[in-house]
Amino acid sequence: MNLTYLGHSSFHIHTKGFNIIFDPFISPNSLASGIDIKNIKSDFILLSHGHGDHLADAEFLSKQNDSTIISNYEIVSWYESKGIKGHPMNHGGKRSFEFGTVKYVNAIHSSMLPDGSYGGAPGGFVVWNNEVSFYFAGDTALTWDMKLIPITCPKLDFAILPIGDNFTMGYEDAVIASDFIQVDKIIACHYDTFGYIKINHDAAIKEFKNAGKELILLEPGSSLEF
Ligand code: NI
Ligand code: MN
Repeated sequence: MNLTYLGHSSFHIHTKGFNIIFDPFISPNSLASGIDIKNIKSDFILLSHGHGDHLADAEFLSKQNDSTIISNYEIVSWYESKGIKGHPMNHGGKRSFEFGTVKYVNAIHSSMLPDGSYGGAPGGFVVWNNEVSFYFAGDTALTWDMKLIPITCPKLDFAILPIGDNFTMGYEDAVIASDFIQVDKIIACHYDTFGYIKINHDAAIKEFKNAGKELILLEPGSSLEF
């Protein structure tokens, strides 16, 4: 499995021959200016919630690549009204896709769509197949519900957690989240993109190190192999 950071909360995962994009917000992000969305391949696009900093490029990518959007019922319906195909889910449900199983899990946040439409309730995703298992938290506070993930899903290899504070949990709470989900390898997202979420990288890394955990801050465009 290969993971590429596309900036903010956006990731490209390549697994079992499929290209999966999470929360594409690339073309408006000056920190991701080196990434050209015309070169991004996507079979599936997973959207955690309706905010613009998570779906800005979803329509372009899904039309360019004939992708399927996987999100909550309200967001998928909104895209279907634009002629884009989707697969709707809701909290606590899991479903097998060609690339693996997806479970839509709870997040504490909000979810209005860019035109003011109701975006349903926000969520995160746990994704697993026979080569990897990981949790993409989306935008969320630290929540007790995270304790359900190791009870209901296969053991996680890593998790992608927001650490930028203000709109989501900060890195101190993300350390507690990593305990709740029983993971020692965390890939950071939702930091530095805007003024409110600029963080001290060294302090964040140290906070995780002190808990015996690894926090990975990727440069947009860089990749990891699992
Ligand atoms: Ni948000
Ligand atoms: Mn956000």
